[in-house]
Amino acid sequence: MRTMIKTASAVFLLAASWCAAQSLREAADRAGILLGAAVNVRHLTEPAYTSTLAREFNMVEPEDAMKWRDIHPAEKTFDFGPADRIVEFAQNHGMKVRGHTLLWATHNPEWLTQGKYTREQLSVLLHDHINEVVGHYRGRVFAWDVVNEAFEEHGWLRKSIWYDQPGIGAGKHTDYIAQAFRWAHQADPSALLFYNDAEIEQVDRKSNAVYKMAKRFKQRGVPIDGIGMQMHVLHGAPNIASIATNIARFTKLGLQVHITELDVALPVDGEGKASNPSDLQRQAEIYREISRVCLQNPRCTALQTWGFTDKYSWIGWETHRTKGAALLFDSQYQPKPSYDAIKQALMQWPRRQR
Ligand code: XIL
Repeated sequence: MRTMIKTASAVFLLAASWCAAQSLREAADRAGILLGAAVNVRHLTEPAYTSTLAREFNMVEPEDAMKWRDIHPAEKTFDFGPADRIVEFAQNHGMKVRGHTLLWATHNPEWLTQGKYTREQLSVLLHDHINEVVGHYRGRVFAWDVVNEAFEEHGWLRKSIWYDQPGIGAGKHTDYIAQAFRWAHQADPSALLFYNDAEIEQVDRKSNAVYKMAKRFKQRGVPIDGIGMQMHVLHGAPNIASIATNIARFTKLGLQVHITELDVALPVDGEGKASNPSDLQRQAEIYREISRVCLQNPRCTALQTWGFTDKYSWIGWETHRTKGAALLFDSQYQPKPSYDAIKQALMQWPRRQR
C-alpha cells in the first residue's frame, strides 16, 4: 500500500514538474490558441530577448515597423528592412505574423500629413500603400490590422486625414474603412482582415459603434474577418462578464476576435519596479481572467501581449514613467506571477481545434 502511494505521488510529482517545465508556447499550442507578443526590431540583436520570444510565443507582431512612418518614410520609398527582419525571425522559429497597421490617424510620416494632398491623391496613396505593403507580405502575414483606432471614446468617428481631413473621398461615415478592407483583400485574398481598436473590450458606446459597423460590413459583404481588442489595462480591473458578452456578440456575426495588445500597467517606483509587490498578484489575476475569457469562446483565436519584458514596454512612455511593470517577464527576463497565471489558464483548458 505504502509503495503504491509512493509510486502514485512520484508519478504526480513527475507530471507536475513536466507541467511546470512547459513553456507558454507549448501550453498555447496544446490549448489550440495563438499566443503572441509585439516585437521591436531593435532588440532582435539581444540574445535574452530572442531566446525568450522564440521559446514562449507562437506569434509575433511588429510593434512599430509596419506603421506608415516606419515602412513608408518618403512618398516613393518603402523601407521593408526592419519588418522583414521580424518576419524572417518568425519564419525561422515557426511563428505566425500579425501585421499592424495599414490605416491609422497617427504614426504617419510628415511628408504625408503635411503634404496637402487632395482627396483623390490621398485615395491613390492609400490604395498604393495597402497594395504594396500587403502584397510584399502576401502569404507571410496571416492577419492584418487593416484599420486601427478609427473611433473616439463615445463612438464618434475620429478625425483624420483618411476620414475627413480631407478624407479619401470614399463616401460617408465608415465607407472609407470599408474601402481599406477591400483594397487589402485584393492585395492578399487569403489574409485575415481585422478592425483593431482600444477600449472596445466591454459593452459600451464605443464598442456598440464598432459592432454596428461590423454588422453592416458583414451584411454588405465587406471582407472583414475579425475584431482586434487591444486590452491595455491602464486603470482598475476590467469587467470580465462584459468582455465575455462583447466577444460573444462579435463572434456571433461570424467574426473572429483577437486580443491584440494586452498589458496590465502597475504603479512603479523610480526603477520601474512595481511600487507595491502585492500588485503583481492582482496583475496575475487580471491576466488569468482575460486568458480564460478568450479561451472560453472558440472564435477568440489569439491572445497577444504588447511586448513581453518589462525592460521594453510602451507603458512607461505612455504614462510619463508613473506606471509600468505591465508584462509577463521582468526586466531580467524572469517570469512574473502574470506568466504563471496565463500558463495555468492555458494548461487547465481542454484542448480545442485551431
Ligand atoms: C505604440 C508603440 O508601442 C510605441 O512604440 C509607439 O511609439 C507608439 O505606438 N495602440 C496601438 C499600438 O495600436 O500601435 C500602439 O503602439 C499602442 C496603442
